[in-house]
Amino acid sequence: MPSIMPIFGTRPEAIKMAPIVSALQADDRFECIVTVTGQHREMLDQVNELFGITPEHDLDILQPGQSLSDILTRTINGLDKLFTVSKPDAVVVQGDTTTSTAGAIAAFYHGIPVIHAEAGLRSHNLYSPFPEEANRKITSQIASLHLAPTSTSKANLIAEGVKEADIVVTGNTVIDALLTTVNKKIPFTDPILEELASSGKKILLVTTHRRENQGDAMRGVGRALARIATEEPDLVIVLPAHKNPLVREAVLPAIERLSNVIVTEPLAYGEFTRMLSLARVVLTDSGGVQEEAPSLGKPVLVMRENTERPEAVVAGTVKLIGTNEERIVEETVRLLRDSEYFDSMANAVNPYGDGQAAERTVAAAAQLLDVGKRISEFTS
Ligand code: UD1
Ligand code: UDP
Repeated sequence: MPSIMPIFGTRPEAIKMAPIVSALQADDRFECIVTVTGQHREMLDQVNELFGITPEHDLDILQPGQSLSDILTRTINGLDKLFTVSKPDAVVVQGDTTTSTAGAIAAFYHGIPVIHAEAGLRSHNLYSPFPEEANRKITSQIASLHLAPTSTSKANLIAEGVKEADIVVTGNTVIDALLTTVNKKIPFTDPILEELASSGKKILLVTTHRRENQGDAMRGVGRALARIATEEPDLVIVLPAHKNPLVREAVLPAIERLSNVIVTEPLAYGEFTRMLSLARVVLTDSGGVQEEAPSLGKPVLVMRENTERPEAVVAGTVKLIGTNEERIVEETVRLLRDSEYFDSMANAVNPYGDGQAAERTVAAAAQLLDVGKRISEFTS
């Protein structure tokens, strides 16, 4: 029986890998060996706990203030040792984190085929998002099977010379994860959030963490949020703060004492998706949130200059607004006050998936390993 090793290390990878792990574990054609790097700790464990995933191997690499090279070298060294005792027939890596690219490189060096989930996203700017654009391009160079979430991401791969026969359009597994979680209406651990949920108040849900936004841009985000909170006293801003201390130091000082701002620890995925479904507007620099919010019909303002996820921008539910303080205030207040404008953005669209991406992933892996055939692709 062929063995497949999903390798992941951060929160978004864990969320997007969970449906794949569960489909592999349910399929008796494969042995599934879950390996985590521990690039994230609390934020990773929180997701694995929710989805009932117990990793077989944990490299436990996290260090406070870890550099990109720390993550890369500690992952490659850990996997290098692991592959000498447990060598799978293929690995699955997800997306564009440093865990993902390091996992791909380590496998490639051991002659293990790499299956790349969420392949082909491109902002076409090597420095934004940094280092993700470079990470995903590197992985594309060495992967054997490229699982593109959309036809746009497939076209990006073909333009870079990837063979069409090695690409499958699966949709993004984040939609599988979202659809199995959001309807459960998981209760909030924090009673303040449960009270907010039943209050009917307008909620602005905010997340921020991008490496290239850290520092001045993120301090500007904090000031913008403070101004929005003051201009919109009936609004409640909810900010689940990323664990990265650099993010907290930059954003929190401007907002933490405001009465209509709630800063929380990272929310468990079930609680976060429930908050997403309660929110009026979403303000974020996250990749995954840009994919999930449109499918719940939530308008998203993205605090970035570009995106590798153009589909929802084209559909009109996501708008790129950059990180200028003035512009964040202006765009957010307009969306909160102008109901016609709000309605034009609040359309539920599903350009990123239909909930069957994991099934297509496993079928494509089966074909790669000669134990099955691919199934029909995702079309949006
Ligand atoms: C990483 C990924 C990024 C992804 C993001 C999702 C890279 C280079 N970056 O960025 O692509 O969008 O995850 O959130 O792969 N920390 C903890 N506990 C945790 C998680 C983080 O303490 O559970 C702290 C640590 O001090 C750590 C720091 O946050 O050093 C930064 O974590 P790191 O994984 O290096 O970068 P992220 O900004 O989280
Ligand atoms: N998320 C979560 N709890 C939170 C904030 C986000 O579970 O407090 C989820 C969110 O639903 C999405 C993913 O985390 O699926 C996005 O992770 P992040 O923004 O850290 O990374 P990115 O997607 O930008 O790589």
